[in-house]
Amino acid sequence: LFVNSSEASAKKIPESLFGIFFEEINHAGAGGLWAELVSNRGFEAGGPNTPSNIDPWSIIGDESSLVVSTERSSSFARNKIALRMEVLCDNEGTRICPAGGVGIFNPGFWGMNVEQGKTYKLVLYVRSEGSIDLSVSLTGSNGLQTLATAKIKASDVSNWTKMEVLLHAQGTDAKSRLQFTTTRKGVVWFDQVSLMPTDTYKGHGFRNDLFEMLKDLRPGFIRFPGGCFVEGEWLRNAFRWKETVGPWEERPGHFGDVWHYWTDDGIGHFEFLQLAEDLGAAPVWVFNNGVSHNDQVDTSSVLPFVQEILDGIEFARGDPQSKWGSLRAAMGHPEPFVLRYVAVGNEDCGKKNYIGNYLKFYNAIKNAYPDIKIISNCDGSSQPLNHPADMYDYHIYTSANSMFSSAQKFDKVSRNGPKAFVSEYAVTGNDAGQGSLLAALAEAGFVIGLEKNCDAVEMASYAPLFVNTNDKTWSPDAIVFDSSQMYGTPSYWMQHFFKESNGATLLNSTLQSNSSSNLIASAIIWKDSEDSKEYLRIKVVNFGNNSVTLKIFIDGLELDSVPPSGLTKTELTSSNLMDENSFQAPKKVMPVTSSMEDAGGKMDIVLSPHSFTRFDLLM
Ligand code: AHR
Repeated sequence: LFVNSSEASAKKIPESLFGIFFEEINHAGAGGLWAELVSNRGFEAGGPNTPSNIDPWSIIGDESSLVVSTERSSSFARNKIALRMEVLCDNEGTRICPAGGVGIFNPGFWGMNVEQGKTYKLVLYVRSEGSIDLSVSLTGSNGLQTLATAKIKASDVSNWTKMEVLLHAQGTDAKSRLQFTTTRKGVVWFDQVSLMPTDTYKGHGFRNDLFEMLKDLRPGFIRFPGGCFVEGEWLRNAFRWKETVGPWEERPGHFGDVWHYWTDDGIGHFEFLQLAEDLGAAPVWVFNNGVSHNDQVDTSSVLPFVQEILDGIEFARGDPQSKWGSLRAAMGHPEPFVLRYVAVGNEDCGKKNYIGNYLKFYNAIKNAYPDIKIISNCDGSSQPLNHPADMYDYHIYTSANSMFSSAQKFDKVSRNGPKAFVSEYAVTGNDAGQGSLLAALAEAGFVIGLEKNCDAVEMASYAPLFVNTNDKTWSPDAIVFDSSQMYGTPSYWMQHFFKESNGATLLNSTLQSNSSSNLIASAIIWKDSEDSKEYLRIKVVNFGNNSVTLKIFIDGLELDSVPPSGLTKTELTSSNLMDENSFQAPKKVMPVTSSMEDAGGKMDIVLSPHSFTRFDLLM
C-alpha cells in the first residue's frame, strides 16, 4: 500500500460524513430508545376512527368482579379515549374480591425492565364517582412477585386529577408489569398512564444503554424520524410533527401503518432534535412531502403541507418569541436547535407528484431559510438532476458481493453537482442473516469507497439502526435489544472504524497487489481529542479467503524499516464468515486491538482472511 502524505493530493473529509439514521421501525423508539415503559399509555391504540384497542393492557380478575371498557371521555382534546373500570366486588360488602384484588395491568413492551435500587416515576390521570383506593405495583410477569408498591388514595376525584407516584424497586425483573388493583366497589377512569425510569440520559427520556451505543459511534449527523415511516402507507398515517409536540399527555399518538404498530409519539419532533443535540450530531429532518406509498396530494393543493414544514423549521430554530419557537421554549429549549438539513420525502422520486411538490418545498424553504441544505429523493449519481438540490439521497440494499463491488460507485460521478447522501446502506438477504461478519466486511469495503470519494459524498448512514428482538420486522440491523440487554451486530462494529473520519484528512493511497480485487484500503490523518496528537490510520478490508502480508510505504518509505511509534492494529474478523453476535455471545464478532508493545516491539502487518483491519500510528 502506497500512501502519499502530501497536502496537494489530500482531501478534507466533511465534518458530518458518517452519521446515523433513526427510523421508528422494529420498535426502535417506542419500546426502545424512548424509555417509556407503558405501552399504549393513553388507551388510544387503534386510532380515533376505529374501535379503540387497549392492547396490551389486560384485566386482573374476571367479568363477575370487574368490567372494563373505553369511553371518549378524556379531558385531552386530541386523544379522547379513557379507560373505564367498574369494580363489582367489595371486601367491605358481601361480594368479596378475589385475593390480591381486581384491576388492570400493562406488561410494557414485552416486559418492563425493573431494577433493584432504581426509582420509577408514575404519572397518571384518574377520575371516579366516589373516593379511590388503589394499589399500584410493579410485579413479576405473572403478577406474583412484588418489586415495588404504593397506594393511590383520594377522597374526591370527581374531576380528572393528575397523580404522580415514585416507585422504588426492591427487586429486579426484566419482564415486569405495572398493575393497579383494588378491593373497593366503584367506577374509576384512567387516562395517560406513564412510567419512566428516573435515570434516563440527562433526564431527556432516552434509555441510557441504547443512547451510549449511539454516542460511541460519534455520529456526525442523525437522519430522522424515518424512511417509510415518514411516508406512511396512507397519508393519514404519516408522521405529522405537530401531533408529536407539546405536553406528552396531549399528544394523540398514531399508527405507523408501514411497520404496523402504534406509537404514543413520546419521541416526537422536539425529542429528535434534543437527541441530535445530545449526540453532538447535526439533525437531518426527513419530512413528508404530500406523498405516501398509496396516495399523493396534488401539487396544486400542497401548500398546507409546505406551511406545516415551514412551521416545523420555525419550531426547531425560530426565535423563542415566534409562534412555534415559543412552543419549543415552553418545552424547555429556548435556544434554537441547529437545524441545517432537511430531506424532502423518502424514496419518492418516481412518483407522479414528487417533482412538482418538491419544487414548492424547495422554493419556500430556500426563500425563508437560505442556509438550509435541501436533499432530493432523486438519484443524481448517474445523471444530473433536473431540479435544484444541495444533496441527493441514495439507498443501497444488496448482496455482499454487490455491496463490496459498489465501493467504486462514486469514483466517476460529477464533482460539480449536488453531493450524495447515502442515507441507507446495508447488505441484506442470505448473506446478511441477522447480521453476519460477511455483511459487515462487504459494507466496510463500500464505506471505504465512500470515504475515498468524500468530495462527492457528503453523508452516509447504515440502516436500520435498531431492532427490538420481539419485533424483527426488518433484519439485519445495527443494534439488537430487548427490555434490558443489547448488543451490536458486526455492522455496528464496522462503523466504529470510521468514527474518527469526520473532519479528518484523507490521504491519497494506492494498493498494488495480485489479489487487489479482494482488497480495498484508505488512509486518513486524524487528531485524537484526548491526547491532541495526530495519527495516521490505514483501514483495509481483505474480502478474500487468503491471508495477505501488507507492506506499507509512506511517502516511499517502508513502514517496517523504521519501528513505527505507538502502532496499534485493530481487527474485525471471526472463524466463520457467517458468524453473528447474540444475547448469549454478544462479543463473538468484535474489533480486537493489539499494540506493538503487546507484540514485543515489532508487529506483523498481516491481514487475516475475511477481515477488516485498521492500523493507527502516531505521526
Ligand atoms: O430501512 C428500512 C426501509 O428501507 C426504510 O424505511 C426505507 O427508506 C427503505 O426502503
